[in-house]
Amino acid sequence: MSVTFEKRGAVAVVTVDRPKALNAIDRSVLEGLSSALDSVEADPDVRAVVLVGGGEKAFVAGADIASMAELAAVEAESFAAFGQAILNRIAACRAPWIAGVQGFALGGGCELAMACDLVFAGPKAKFGQPEVKLGVIPGFGGTQRLVRRVGMSCALDLCLTGRMVGAAEAVQMGLASRLVADDVLGACIAAAEDIAAMGPVAIRLCKRAIHENADSDLASAQAAERTLFGLCFSTSDQKEGMAAFLGKRAAEFTGK
Ligand code: CAA
Repeated sequence: MSVTFEKRGAVAVVTVDRPKALNAIDRSVLEGLSSALDSVEADPDVRAVVLVGGGEKAFVAGADIASMAELAAVEAESFAAFGQAILNRIAACRAPWIAGVQGFALGGGCELAMACDLVFAGPKAKFGQPEVKLGVIPGFGGTQRLVRRVGMSCALDLCLTGRMVGAAEAVQMGLASRLVADDVLGACIAAAEDIAAMGPVAIRLCKRAIHENADSDLASAQAAERTLFGLCFSTSDQKEGMAAFLGKRAAEFTGK
């Protein structure tokens, strides 16, 4: 199995597990991620997902170069379409995904991390889009997600030079959300449990408000935001969350 799925209470841990190839993404990894997404989408008890790489050395060192080397143009386009579709499903997934990056997150691995809602970088994390060194460009949305995340200047710097950046620089440019200590998985699970304790409908709608409107003009995006804000007031979670605050007690959300 190239990808494993493990439920720990309300948190699912998804591991890309090909450590001998630094967890490089081939079709079997994309199929494994697709199955993991199916499991998350079918189970409302999963409130947050942590995505990590197997072994110590890499999150994911990119798309699998050995399996791409002999592809024809149409096959390469189809592989990129498959990768983009899986990463888009992660971005659109009801539950937030947290990428826990220790070691290399390169090429498709950097793109996979960027499809997640949060990216936690351990002290040895290395991010980069080194595709130009192979005579190709990023193909899993990297040229597009990177520019939206870090801006044109840093995106061009990473994509044109292929250079790697460490955890601190990745956080500083907005590519990673947080620099965490050595126990990257532990930090991700702790944050995922925090998210899992929030109002599930609010988490889902918040994720939608941000992802679905990131490319819209401000007025349209604010219109979408206030519609979703209003929608929250049709839920039991809003009644419970506000009653719990006013009653000085912990909220017990039902996700309804
Ligand atoms: N695909 C396939 N195999 C890979 C791989 C990849 N992306 N990255 C590493 N591996 C394999 C190596 O071939 C090697 O296998 P063997 O032991 O069988 O020789 C094993 O993993 C360990 O790698 P190294 O010996 O190279 O380890 P290192 O510590 O010397 O170097 C590294 C680590 C700098 C990450 C180096 O492996 C590397 O540069 N990897 C390629 C990174 C890359 O170019 N990624 C982009 C891929 S293209 C892409 O992702 C396109 C896209 O956007 C969809």
